[in-house]
Amino acid sequence: MGETHIYTEFHRMLDRGAKEKLLGQKGLVVWLYGLSGSGKSTLAIALERRLHAEGLLTKILDGDNIRSGLNRNLGFSDEDRLENIRRIAEVAKLFADLGVVTLASFITPKEELRELARGIVGAEDFLEVYVHCPFEECARRDVKGLYAKASAGEVKQFTGKDSSFEEPEAPDLRIETSTQTEEESLEKLYEAVSGRVRLAAEA
Ligand code: ADX
Repeated sequence: MGETHIYTEFHRMLDRGAKEKLLGQKGLVVWLYGLSGSGKSTLAIALERRLHAEGLLTKILDGDNIRSGLNRNLGFSDEDRLENIRRIAEVAKLFADLGVVTLASFITPKEELRELARGIVGAEDFLEVYVHCPFEECARRDVKGLYAKASAGEVKQFTGKDSSFEEPEAPDLRIETSTQTEEESLEKLYEAVSGRVRLAAEA
């Protein structure tokens, strides 16, 4: 295995609390998942702007960006999606360890993948947010033109069509982007995140 002759040095490094104190905030991974076109990135971008305006340091990780860099060798088979999520969760954990509010926006189509991400990041640092929008509505929006291409048979293993999307059982938060306005969705998300990223004031 790849772990032979690896000697981790975490105990000599500055700890997370020192980084969080420097930044004046707490690290958290907000894992937004749902169908392509459900509104994950739009919400992540809006949340980032709001938190940033309040002086919080944030980082967005999202599917198309990560897949054009770190994960450019991965496709959309079950195996590749798992490796995609595994790597992203490890990266998200690194950011959270720095005290950064990390917004991960990935389809994450299976419960197994959400559990994997939660397990890697650690449950105490993980907020699971299901961004729900019916397939038909995502197809109607078709922001990237992918639903049209998929129905013409030009995109293989397309999520919700020939690659399945499992409904989650108990997300921490569920956002309905087909029935709520963007402002309402953002408000719900902000409320769930805001209280978890503030450092308690020193006495
Ligand atoms: S995941 O399933 O592994 O979590 P991820 O969020 O990284 O997916 O990537 C999804 C993005 O890749 C979509 O928003 C879309 O732009 C693009 N994409 C390209 N091919 C597919 C496909 N077959 N299924 C889903 N998304 C695809």
